[in-house]
Amino acid sequence: MNKISVIGSGTMGNGIAHVFAQYGHQVSLIDVQQAALDKALSTISKNFDRQVAKGSISEEDKSAALGRILTFTSLGDGVKDADLVIEAAIENLQVKLDLFRQLDELCPQHTILASNTSSISITKIGSVTKRPDKVIGMHFMNPVPVMKLVEVIKGYATSNETTETVMTVSSKLEKIPVEVNDYPGFVANRILMPMINEAIYTLYEGVAGIEEIDTVMKLGMAHPMGPLQLADFIGLDVCLSIMKVLHDGFGNPKYAPCPLLVNMVEAGFKGVKTGEGFYAYTLGNKELKVSGRFK
Ligand code: CAA
Repeated sequence: MNKISVIGSGTMGNGIAHVFAQYGHQVSLIDVQQAALDKALSTISKNFDRQVAKGSISEEDKSAALGRILTFTSLGDGVKDADLVIEAAIENLQVKLDLFRQLDELCPQHTILASNTSSISITKIGSVTKRPDKVIGMHFMNPVPVMKLVEVIKGYATSNETTETVMTVSSKLEKIPVEVNDYPGFVANRILMPMINEAIYTLYEGVAGIEEIDTVMKLGMAHPMGPLQLADFIGLDVCLSIMKVLHDGFGNPKYAPCPLLVNMVEAGFKGVKTGEGFYAYTLGNKELKVSGRFK
């Protein structure tokens, strides 16, 4: 498990590349645009600087880790000698199925194919390959360099050997891997997303305002962020798509996405990444300001 390929250089992909490079792996970071890869390298460098500033790694460790990351715009070149591929592309079933069909053709026979999906079925992804025993979920949490959990999702056909290998690799990154079975939302999002959706319903029904809801959960339950701030941080479009997976997968009305969440996504207010969700985000402004639309 020396050569790791990471597909997708967005927030999750660059965080995953960061952590593997930090722990001595050769990393191939793959994206369709060189500009996205350059941006990812600059983000990784800035995130390493935080660790240097607090003394958890040295400047030399940072340079060595950055030196272990190569970037590719060709999928074939980026995965041709990978031991483990981690897909962190957009959360779209067809895109993932298409990628895994290609990966199955392009990768050596021994390569484990993992997806960082937050809710798409690993069993379904594995079924489009000729190696479903080597297809698995590796669900990292944002921000990847900080969060300790890796939710390891065993698809219906994933072998015990693949699962053990991925558990071991994750532990060597000083993460805590937790093995779960492949059902809608796995464990993390089956519990987290209904809580976020309920917080949105609480706002929608006028029970309390944004700051009040978040304060109750931060101070009352010791959550580092309130659920509405966390929804903005994750992306409201991602929250909506996970609620739809739960709703479709279980057919239970308790998972119906809140109409306010649907409206906000349709209007393009997706949280931090679009500059506004429940809060308004202006560059360089660390202070949280409730979006003017809710006043
Ligand atoms: N890389 C490296 N270090 C980072 C970092 C990054 N990207 N982001 C933050 N840090 C470090 C900071 O340097 C800081 O380190 P020290 O405390 O050692 O100095 C520490 O993390 C805390 O950062 P900040 O002081 O900037 O801010 P904070 O105290 O508000 O913490 C937070 C930020 C860690 C994000 C915290 O607010 C938090 O834990 N939030 C909840 C995160 C969460 O729930 N994540 C899961 C989301 S769900 C998901 O990812 C999966 C899904 O499928 C939807």
